[in-house]
Amino acid sequence: MRSVSVAFLTAILVVAYAEPDELPLAEPCDESACKLPNCLCSSQDIPGNLEPRDTPQFVLLTFDDAITDLNTQTYRSLIYRRTNKNQCPIGVTFFMQHEYTDYVMVNELYNQGFEIGLHSISHRTPQDFWRDASYEQLMREIGDQKQQIFAFANVPASTITGVRSPFLQLSGNNNFKMMKSAGITYDLSRPTTRYTDPGMWPYTLDYQSTQDCVIGPCPNASFPGAWVIPMISWTDLSGFPCAMADACFHSPDTEEGWFQFILQNFERHYLGNRAPFGIYIHEAYIRPRPHVQRALTRFFDTINNINDVFMVNAKEVIDWTQNPIPINEYVKKSCRRTVPAACRPVFCPGLFSQDTEKTYYLRVCSRCPRNYPWVNNPLGN
Ligand SMILES: *[C@@H]1O[C@H](CO)[C@@H](O)[C@H](O)[C@H]1NC(C)=O
Ligand SMILES: [Zn+2]
Repeated sequence: MRSVSVAFLTAILVVAYAEPDELPLAEPCDESACKLPNCLCSSQDIPGNLEPRDTPQFVLLTFDDAITDLNTQTYRSLIYRRTNKNQCPIGVTFFMQHEYTDYVMVNELYNQGFEIGLHSISHRTPQDFWRDASYEQLMREIGDQKQQIFAFANVPASTITGVRSPFLQLSGNNNFKMMKSAGITYDLSRPTTRYTDPGMWPYTLDYQSTQDCVIGPCPNASFPGAWVIPMISWTDLSGFPCAMADACFHSPDTEEGWFQFILQNFERHYLGNRAPFGIYIHEAYIRPRPHVQRALTRFFDTINNINDVFMVNAKEVIDWTQNPIPINEYVKKSCRRTVPAACRPVFCPGLFSQDTEKTYYLRVCSRCPRNYPWVNNPLGN
């Protein structure tokens, strides 16, 4: 009797102490119920059942971390004044962290037509912080970045719709709860090493995802209308997968080698199901490696001359996926346009942060905050 009631009590306690707000599991995807534009099952099929030859090959170039005066010099020479074969300016997406960022440069990149995405205020270590982060912590680290970028760089919050987690480390469902509250529509943090050939297309989280979970925990609840762009891994020179191009362990050390390396990874997509091809890289990797920069330039020169290849902002891939149209229609569309955001540069020297105990030099497009902006005080009041 006694042991039975102890077991019974334990069972009650376990139920009572389960995650208070754990969400129900998502159901397996129901293709007859999950329809574009707002729902898409995870798969390797081309949206809209298009043939590969009718499918635009999108190339997603992204840069992460702080946007500074120094790394903008690389961006100017690598990606400014570059157009796709359809004469539209190329797109590039920046997942920016707040710490060390120069908001005058953010304004410049935005006015060049590039996309600004979120990558947290602090980008703090250890990586486990991001694995264990609560919804509330993610709101303060990432959700609040929207108003911060608007306040300091004049980038309209409505244009900020994407996020990449620091270290690509998700915290299960919490990231997607945060995205919903913050009005963020897509995540570009989740690598796939299994669905690379053919690649997995972007999909929504209305239903269970069939994607592999390389850096868990991954979400398992339903988040209607939230998009995931899988980070389709490259294959390095020894056959190992790498989600970030600069994290490939066995990579070439010459310009010709790098050019061939990018091309080989690209061809897996271009000659396959044309899932978006990602070049996910850090400027800090390129700057000390001129051969990598030259190889990238050569690669961009090459694809900017191909009729059915388009370097675009990540958000444009979501837009196309929601309304998949064949290349002959796609090329008739007008180019993306950006309404210029004003900036009157102000230099704010010597802002001390109580949180990090460091002094920062900040440039903004508005007026200097009293304190260095940080988590829980994103505007530096
Ligand atoms: C769903 O994922 C969370 C982690 O984010 C985990 O704690 C929970 O056990 C998972 N639920 C199920 C039923 O697998
Ligand atoms: Zn980062």
